[in-house]
Amino acid sequence: AGRHLGQPFECEGWWQAAGGRRRIRIRGRSAGPGDLGMLGLVWNVTREHAFQVRLTQSEKLESLGRMAGGLAHDFNNHLAVLVGNLELLDAAVGREPGVRRRLDTIDRTITAATALVRSLLTFARRRTVEMESIRPTELLDELHEMLASLLGRQIRVVRDAGDAALVVDASREQLQNALLNLCVNARDAMPDGGELTLGAAAVAIACEHCRICGEEVTGSFVAISVRDSGAGIPLALQERIFEPFFTTKAEGQGTGLGLAAVAGCVTSHQGHLLLDSTPGGGSCFRILLPFTQGAVGDCSSGAGSGAATAVGRKAIVASA
Ligand SMILES: Nc1ncnc2c1ncn2[C@@H]1O[C@H](COP(=O)(O)OP(=O)(O)OP(=O)(O)O)[C@@H](O)[C@H]1O
Ligand SMILES: [Mg+2]
Repeated sequence: AGRHLGQPFECEGWWQAAGGRRRIRIRGRSAGPGDLGMLGLVWNVTREHAFQVRLTQSEKLESLGRMAGGLAHDFNNHLAVLVGNLELLDAAVGREPGVRRRLDTIDRTITAATALVRSLLTFARRRTVEMESIRPTELLDELHEMLASLLGRQIRVVRDAGDAALVVDASREQLQNALLNLCVNARDAMPDGGELTLGAAAVAIACEHCRICGEEVTGSFVAISVRDSGAGIPLALQERIFEPFFTTKAEGQGTGLGLAAVAGCVTSHQGHLLLDSTPGGGSCFRILLPFTQGAVGDCSSGAGSGAATAVGRKAIVASA
């Protein structure tokens, strides 16, 4: 801490207070030569410290995104060449069964690689987002159907009574893919079965922490939620799960790109993501989409206004 006799000093550390752990900063001077005392002030910098940690985290994600996006973009071009040539080969080869089998294997591999690259591009926001008016409850209906074959019998799907009148401006494909990723994660967190709850509702949020941009969020939003009764996510891991390639799954079971793609989708929609999870108590992921133009607020230091970014975006209540 650079403390010398008579010299000013500053140090920071953790203090275990009765109400929980506090981050404190001490600024002061030693009280004089030969004196072991000191004069100074102790500041509670818990919030500032938490904000700094989140900022570093989102900066890290941002640079990872740039790198991944650049790589995925070029890789995508190489894949396009492979697909084109495969089609030509396919036409030329005829019915030779051995060759056809191999061509099919190449085709499946390219399809898997394309899906991977698409997730990376979504994470890095290098894909064009085509917005359309979507009713979140309809999206959940479609998802519900898809889930039947995906989840197995052990998992019960519950639908929260959603507000069918809600409409958001969003990319159907990206949102569907994000929700599917959340549901597959929920399934994996409940290997012995459990409950998966899907919901869509208008919500008022007060100073909650967005897991993607790291800021505190306040305002009215349309929330699409995926809740599971599974294992929950340890606190130490919650900071890392949105990083691309971060996975706790066995080799071949997960690439760690699901939540990275969810993060990209949420950012493309100028939305936020809230996570409530306790080990043993399940997890709830909530995607927040802007509710009405200009209604987006946040508690962080005056980052301009939400209005500029909200231009052209809307979430309306249909009059039907
Ligand atoms: N609902 C959940 N419950 C418990 N842990 C979760 C949940 N969702 C995500 N996780 C944790 O976050 C990690 C990262 O998730 P992510 O979807 O990005 O990758 P993955 O599921 O491991 O692989 P992929 O989605 O690419 O197949 C998971 O490995 C898991 O540890
Ligand atoms: Mg996943």
